[in-house]
Parts: sequence; C-alpha cells; structure tokens
Amino acid sequence: MPSSNRKWVLVSRPVDEVEESNFELREEAIADPADGQVLLRNEVLTVNPPMRMALVSGGITGKPYPIGRVMYGGGLARVAKSRHADFSEGDLVQGELGWQEFNLIDPGKRLAIKKVQAPADLPETTLMHVLGSSGATAWFGIVEFARPRAGDTFVVSTAAGSVGAIVCQLARLQGCRVIGIAGSDEKCVWVRDGLGATGVINYRRENVAERLRELCPNGIDIYFDNVGGETLDAVLGQIAFGARVVLCGGTSQYNHDLEWYGPKNYFNLVYRQAIMSGFYVSNFAHRNTEAHSRLAALLRDGTLHYAEDVLNGIQNVPKALIRILKGENFGVPLIKLV
Ligand SMILES: NC(=O)c1ccc[n+]([C@@H]2O[C@H](COP(=O)([O-])OP(=O)(O)OC[C@H]3O[C@@H](n4cnc5c(N)ncnc54)[C@H](OP(=O)(O)O)[C@@H]3O)[C@@H](O)[C@H]2O)c1
Repeated sequence: MPSSNRKWVLVSRPVDEVEESNFELREEAIADPADGQVLLRNEVLTVNPPMRMALVSGGITGKPYPIGRVMYGGGLARVAKSRHADFSEGDLVQGELGWQEFNLIDPGKRLAIKKVQAPADLPETTLMHVLGSSGATAWFGIVEFARPRAGDTFVVSTAAGSVGAIVCQLARLQGCRVIGIAGSDEKCVWVRDGLGATGVINYRRENVAERLRELCPNGIDIYFDNVGGETLDAVLGQIAFGARVVLCGGTSQYNHDLEWYGPKNYFNLVYRQAIMSGFYVSNFAHRNTEAHSRLAALLRDGTLHYAEDVLNGIQNVPKALIRILKGENFGVPLIKLV
C-alpha cells in the first residue's frame, strides 16, 4: 500500500471555463488511524456539472467552495484499516470522499459516508450512477413530475448524459415518443439506437427549434430539462396544451451562473395551461430504495443500458471535470484510482 496520499486542492477560481490550473496536486504522508478512526482507500470517483457552480457562485449552498481545500466529490472507497467497531477492513463505502486517494475519517464525529453493497449480480460501479444519484434523479423526476402517459411526446436534453440516458429509457418504457437532444452525432446514434429514442437532435450543429417543429408536429407534452438556456426556450415555444416542463439541471448556464439566461417564451405556459416545476433529488432520499430496486430489476433483465467514460489515476480528475463541461465524455464520468 502507498505511504502517501495525493489530493487535488482548489487554488483559484475559473473565470470562464474550468482549467486544470485551478487545482494543484499535493502529496502528504498517510497517518495510521487512531482509536475510533477509519482509513479509506478511494477506488472510484466521479464528477458532475454543478461542480462548476460550486467553484464561483457556490450553487445551491450560495457559498463558493473554499480555496485551499481538497476539492469535494463523491465516490466509492474500501476500508483499508479500521479502528472503529462498525467498519472492517474490506468494507465498501460510498459518499463524500474528495479528489484524493485516501481519507482518514472519524465516523464518530462526522459521517459523510455509508457502507454499501452492490447487488451481487451487478457491477459495483452501478452504485455511482443507475443505482446512485443519477438513477434516483431520473426516477423521481419522471414519477413525481413528468408523469408520462403512453403516447406523450417526451423531449429530454443531455439525452446521453448520466441522468438523461436513464430518463430516455424510462420514458420509452412508459410508451412515450422520445426525442433526445445531445451534443454529438455519436451520442445521437446511441440515444436513438441504444436507448430507443424515436428522434434525435444534435444541438451543436442543428437548429433545435426547427428540428423540434419537424419531430414534434403536435407539440411537446413533456420536457425533461438538463440544460436550461436557449434549448429550454426553444422547447417552451412548442409545448402542447397541458404540458409538463421538469427543470432538473441547467448545464448550459453553469459557466456563467451569476447571470442566468431567462426564457423568453415562458408565457406559453399561460397560453398552453402548462406546468413548469423544478425538483431536487435530495428531497426524495428517503425513497431511494424504491427507485433503485426498480432500476436494478431493469438492469438485470437487460432493459436498461448505460455507458461509462473511464479515466484512470488521480492525476486525471480535473481532466474528467473539464471533459464533461465540454461534452467530450461518452457516458458516466468515472475516475478509477485502483
Ligand atoms: N435536480 C436534481 O436533483 C439534480 C440531480 C442530479 C443532476 N442534476 C442536473 O442534471 C443535469 C444532468 O446531470 P448529469 O450528472 O447527468 O450530468 P451529464 O448530463 O452527464 O453532464 C455532462 C454532459 O453535459 C453536457 N454539456 C456540457 N456542457 C454543456 C453546455 N454548455 N450546454 C449543454 N450541455 C452541455 C454534455 O453533453 P452533450 O455533449 O450532450 O452536450 C456532457 O456530456 C445537470 O445539469 C445536473 O446539474 C440535477
């Protein structure tokens, strides 16, 4: 086992796009756990678009992430050494680990992790997406807010993303006509042929409003929004009577989230008697088992598909964040450390 821990510390704030120089890789000796402490070896980390907001505006917390602190981030870790009665060497844990290779934690004082186990017949990494936050987000966004009916025209943005790919498939399973919006032809092919969308739009090279008119001649019944901005506006211009617009994310705005783009077509909500509502997945955490057991069943019978975009090594964590903010990833971003 290594004798030192490498960790990425936030050293400056991005002005526009996130750059690797906003972080610094530092090394420190690993201490042995004292009584009541646990040493974790982090195995897999992930990154997500709201991290960009945390760096400047602070996003949901309203407080910019502190300079000089190890960058936050969730992942899976294995207990390497334990002097705590509830944890044994080899236990798998999940939670807030930060961009680093090891964590010395004190579960008695603050527990940002929990012991987890993937279903025996599914890969452990599914805990990082379908059986984790992305799965719960897709599930509750659909069940509680989109409420699809067979035959609905259902549009989803970032359709090849961690959340979007699951949304696409759940909507199709409900009998909807799914139109997926994504940022490359390769992603669009996967959304159509792999995830079952009826139509796809590459927003980087096609006119979204025009393509929506072609693909949704009777209007859009449901929009699951992951991007906000001009795409949300284009959809609002074409909603059907009684439409549901579900605000999940606003990735197109995260680089400039102190100045959000406000939709110009919002008054269609009045004309079409439609509902636009946001939701936050943490508010459904007490029901995660419900979502994950249904999603696990869909994974098991081969109905639900996912892709993982894997980088290896702690040195690549900032790169993984930069890649997703540029849309260069294909699948759920995972950084494997062992
Ligand atoms: N409400 C909640 O509780 C909740 C929970 C989880 C996540 N979310 C939100 O849901 C959204 C999806 O999250 P996720 O974790 O699944 O991330 P994700 O969609 O996998 O994020 C990465 C993707 O975002 C797209 N992207 C990057 N820059 C963009 C830009 N400027 N404009 C439009 N798209 C851009 C890229 O796809 P393309 O190549 O297709 O552009 C990229 O591959 C995020 O906005 C996130 O904040 C909300």
